Amino acid sequence: MLEDLQELQKAAAEDIQHAENLTVLENLRVRYLGRKSQLRHIMGQIGHLPADQRPQLGQAAGRAQSAIQNALEARQQSLQKTIEADSQIDVTLPGRTPRRGALHPLSKLIDELSDVFRGMGFDLADGPEVEDEYHNFDALNTPADHPARDLHDTFYLRETGLLRTHTSTVQIRVMESQPPPVRIVSLGRCYRKETVDATHHFAFHQIEGLFVDRDVSFADLKGTIESMGKQLLGDDTRVRFRSHFFPFTEPSVEYDFSCSICNGEDMRCSICKGTGWIEIAGAGMVDPAVFTSIGYDPEQYSGFAFGMGLERMAMIRYGIDDVRLFLDNDLRFTRQFSTRG
Ligand code: DAH
Repeated sequence: MLEDLQELQKAAAEDIQHAENLTVLENLRVRYLGRKSQLRHIMGQIGHLPADQRPQLGQAAGRAQSAIQNALEARQQSLQKTIEADSQIDVTLPGRTPRRGALHPLSKLIDELSDVFRGMGFDLADGPEVEDEYHNFDALNTPADHPARDLHDTFYLRETGLLRTHTSTVQIRVMESQPPPVRIVSLGRCYRKETVDATHHFAFHQIEGLFVDRDVSFADLKGTIESMGKQLLGDDTRVRFRSHFFPFTEPSVEYDFSCSICNGEDMRCSICKGTGWIEIAGAGMVDPAVFTSIGYDPEQYSGFAFGMGLERMAMIRYGIDDVRLFLDNDLRFTRQFSTRG
């Protein structure tokens, strides 16, 4: 009988622990403590035992009974708590949709431009933002006393080096690392010592392109720029080339895209001011001096290069009117580019 009592107590504790609601718990109470329970049955028999065995069994039965009672009570309290907690959740409320993340408008443009140029057979290349004067200036045919350096004043680092002023540095790094042919674009951040206002920033982004092979001509440059313009601003986009000067290209040009917003018909157009043209960036045929200093033979190879600031293009594409917004990291700005799912 002692053993029966122990087993009973163990089985009861186990069942009570696993009771998943109050009804199940009530049934267990009836099963283990009710009139027809095994415990009651054992208790009923104790009276028929020899007198010397009764006290021991009587005590054991009493202990089993209170242990089961305690377990029932503890379980009831914990079930009760869960019920109260659950009742604070209103399952009929509409769910909260998590906000979708969004790409920064410059990242979007970088992705888009990468696709445009991959489609024309260009590889993506990368270069460091902390550069040396050689890659930023000298190798690009801009020696220390060249006046063009004044336009590219930047941040010089204490020991050596500077923050690159343009992505043209990557032209040099790629040509150093491989023989022709070369067909790359590079997209990344540049720095200049600018006073910050709505259209200037000391940190900005550029795309750089370089195409070197036998018999590359100015017509190839024009075709490539025109294709970029149409893919970015629409099929009606026209390109205008104006002659210009860059130390590392000869001849050099600046190119403009036709204004897709007003077509030159609105004097107050915020993009072209009614001129019909959006000034975009620079380009040209790689200067033979650059080839020579890098170890490419200018008699055998020719090439074109182009650059473009990304902020201005992103401002046109997304209707942004202040260049400072790109780097402020204000979520109210970036969230406007998120699409809701
Ligand atoms: N690196 C020039 C700048 O930032 C832009 C540029 C002009 C890049 C002509 C080129 C180029 O590749 O051929 O002002």
